[in-house]
Amino acid sequence: MVNRRKNTPGTAGQRPTAPPGGRFTPPRGRSLPSVLMAMLIATPALANDAPDLVELKRLVHQDCGSCHGLTLKGGLGPDIRPQTIEHYDPDVLTGVILDGIEGTAMPPWRPLITEEEAIWIADYLLKGE
Ligand code: HEC
Repeated sequence: MVNRRKNTPGTAGQRPTAPPGGRFTPPRGRSLPSVLMAMLIATPALANDAPDLVELKRLVHQDCGSCHGLTLKGGLGPDIRPQTIEHYDPDVLTGVILDGIEGTAMPPWRPLITEEEAIWIADYLLKGE
């Protein structure tokens, strides 16, 4: 698995602008390396590839935990440990995570995570550690 946080840009940016001994062509607009770097920076941490499990566990305990408690046993939001949510169908639980619960503080996570990641989180919550 690739740790995207260690993806420091740089090595791609060191190509000379003119071929050795060749004609000098002034760069037109943004150079390719700077475009690539912009793409790296713009890529949301959680929005591509397969789920990054370390990152997702961190999200569950930090971000979900900010409301549901670090150990998920409740806070502003209710207890979401396996024994309290066992009645949930995994698909329904995934829907709750993706779309939130309207009219409550439970926010939709769709803008931040992929469906695949939500499925993983639902499964993680149902199984526990
Ligand atoms: C801003 C606070 C907040 C955050 C952040 C938050 N929740 Fe919630 N969540 C709530 C509240 C409040 C409820 C209860 C809504 C209600 O009254 O039905 C809730 C309800 C739920 C429920 C339904 C529980 C039940 O017994 O029906 C689940 C499951 C859940 N949240 C999972 C998550 C997950 C997973 C995350 C992180 C991806 C998350 N929540 C992040 C506030 C939050």
